[in-house]
Amino acid sequence: MQTLTVSLGERSYPIHVGTDLLSRAELLLPHLKQKKVLVVTNTTVAPLYLDRLMATLTGAGVSALSVVLPDGEQYKTWETLNLIFDALLGAHCERSTTLIALGGGVIGDMGGFAASCYQRGMPFIQVPTTLLSQVDSSVGGKTAINHPLGKNMVGAFYQPQLVLADISTLDTLPDRELCAGLAEVIKYGLIRDPDFFVWLEANVESLLARDREALAFAVNRSCSNKAEVVANDERETGERALLNLGHTFGHAIETGMGYGEWLHGEAVSAGTLIALELSRRMGLLTVDDVFRVKNLFVRAGLPVCGPKLGAARYLELMRHDKKVQDGKLRLVLLKGIGQAVISDAARESDILDAIDASCT
Ligand code: NAD
Ligand code: GLY
Repeated sequence: MQTLTVSLGERSYPIHVGTDLLSRAELLLPHLKQKKVLVVTNTTVAPLYLDRLMATLTGAGVSALSVVLPDGEQYKTWETLNLIFDALLGAHCERSTTLIALGGGVIGDMGGFAASCYQRGMPFIQVPTTLLSQVDSSVGGKTAINHPLGKNMVGAFYQPQLVLADISTLDTLPDRELCAGLAEVIKYGLIRDPDFFVWLEANVESLLARDREALAFAVNRSCSNKAEVVANDERETGERALLNLGHTFGHAIETGMGYGEWLHGEAVSAGTLIALELSRRMGLLTVDDVFRVKNLFVRAGLPVCGPKLGAARYLELMRHDKKVQDGKLRLVLLKGIGQAVISDAARESDILDAIDASCT
């Protein structure tokens, strides 16, 4: 097991990455204020891992209750959030009870948001079980639900007490979900870690084959990049926005196609290629670099063309992006592999052309 730290003063917390961590009560216990927890999970993850986690907790004398939510991005809503509050209140959970989110990014984002609101804030722990959630969503304290008009539009910054990333849980992850997680892994190489990008070019097939050593390296390296960015800019006033490479276009795809139709990582992959095409049109990036990145996404089993929603529709959806400032769209662009920038300099005509050229 390796341990990283997200350094946020007295709100700092560890990220443990390793195998068979769900059975390790000693990793969880120091972070519980009270020997009572509510585990939030879904109908897919519960039959796989809930019993194991509950046995670990109850074996250590913790009173553990659970709530099992419907599975899917389309359920990242107020209605589902209320099921968590129903369970918390029904079980007389107190402000010092801990909420444990066991699942992918949807469960982590919703569980974290519920924890941020319940009795004005209760502690929570992230136990991410998808590659995407282990490398990105469980770290950094962004929590949210979707609104019909925009992804993750209602939420809070609220940091967990602990992230427990058990890479053994990736054994049961469907291939499509594993590939989707790779989009966020590649992102770190693109925005700030060119050596990691080169490592990914050499090792992407080992990751797809679920080689444990390769997965552990990729999760650790991704989390270490994310922890550094979050420590520098927790509230996204600057550098953290770079983590959204491809996301403005990607969120437009997810919302425009209907939540759950495109996986988040797939939409980020296609969205990243639009952002790179725009960067090339603006003279920031060479055609060779665009080709190199496209090649890696293809090898990772990810889509490199967005759906044909129509460029004007993309733009309309993108106007809801959280990076819009004073009505101006700010986009993450690439100046080279490992060098992202945020810019509001893109002309609308270039954005529309880049979308048209990158969607089939
Ligand atoms: P997800 O939570 O929908 O999980 C993907 C699927 O895998 C689901 O069907 C889930 O039930 C299933 N699953 C989870 N673990 C499994 C396992 N070990 N074995 C088998 N099946 C398993 O999707 P995701 O890709 O994990 O997360 C996407 C969400 O994360 C999006 O809502 C996105 O907006 C959010 N996100 C948030 C942040 C953040 O910083 N908070 C960052 C990136 C993405
Ligand atoms: N996933 C983007 C962020 O955490 O800032």
